[in-house]
Amino acid sequence: MKVLVADKFESVGVRGLKECGCQVVVNPELKDDALVDGLQREQPQVLIVRSTKVGEQAVAAAGSLKLIVRAGAGVDTIDVPAATRHGIRVANCPGKNSVAVAELVFALLLSLDRRVVENVNDLRAGKWNKKEYSKARGIKGLTLGIVGVGQVGREVVKRALAFDMRVLYTDIVPAPELDKTPGVRRVTLEELLKGGDVVSVHVPLTEQTRHLINAERLRLMRPGAILINTSRGGVVDEKAVAAALAEGKLGGVGLDVYEIEPSAAGTVFEDPIVKHPRVYGTHHIGASTDQAQTAVAEETVRIVREYLSGGKVLNCVNP
Ligand code: MLT
Repeated sequence: MKVLVADKFESVGVRGLKECGCQVVVNPELKDDALVDGLQREQPQVLIVRSTKVGEQAVAAAGSLKLIVRAGAGVDTIDVPAATRHGIRVANCPGKNSVAVAELVFALLLSLDRRVVENVNDLRAGKWNKKEYSKARGIKGLTLGIVGVGQVGREVVKRALAFDMRVLYTDIVPAPELDKTPGVRRVTLEELLKGGDVVSVHVPLTEQTRHLINAERLRLMRPGAILINTSRGGVVDEKAVAAALAEGKLGGVGLDVYEIEPSAAGTVFEDPIVKHPRVYGTHHIGASTDQAQTAVAEETVRIVREYLSGGKVLNCVNP
């Protein structure tokens, strides 16, 4: 079976695929038209991607293609309806990078509270300013509102409790075990926004969640609250966030994801929101730890091995 890997992929994954007997072609540079050409040329049965977008043209490019594996959790970069129309199954690797994303949430939260970026920059510029940087709130006892308690949200809950925070959460599906956890309470989205000192968003981008956090909902948030988005850019209305920052409504914003992100090869990023002094922006690196990427690669190999041995597609999102 021929597998085309059109993205960066841990070597343990490439090794694992070869051990299953697959012929593996790795070309992380295949994006857009080059991906379509690569699929036409290679005619693989399986395509593995991480950030590489797979649109309708790519889906239709190789008659041989049977399975697309997203080496990550979200599948919004793949045209799943088109894949379904072409009889191609799509699978993902849910939960394998959840801890890494949850760790980034706390990296952003703690560094916003302590103004770590400005601290470091001033020291690098030869400025000692203990007086200025001695002002911080601390996170113990604060209320963290978690929007969406899928696998990432739950890892955030665990870590919030370890920091002695109170947790409010909202989700469209019940989470009975969380309801029994001391310090955790299920509320409506409106109650969460009104009650959270910090709000962290963990939902996939769908038609229902696009701009879930909009101007009206931002107005419900506590003055000085911190907003963190490590899920998908479109879930938060960036223009509304910029306006809330301009009004002094928000105390800080941590963003790992943006409404428009450069393609994997791109280096220019013009989104003005990251220039605001109270925005700490990172480069969509939530999933990017060695631990998470190894776990994702191993899960990808498991999916391909299972498919090879009996045609079953694990974690199929279009069964
Ligand atoms: C995910 O969907 O799991 C992440 O966005 C993956 C990634 O950045 O590779």
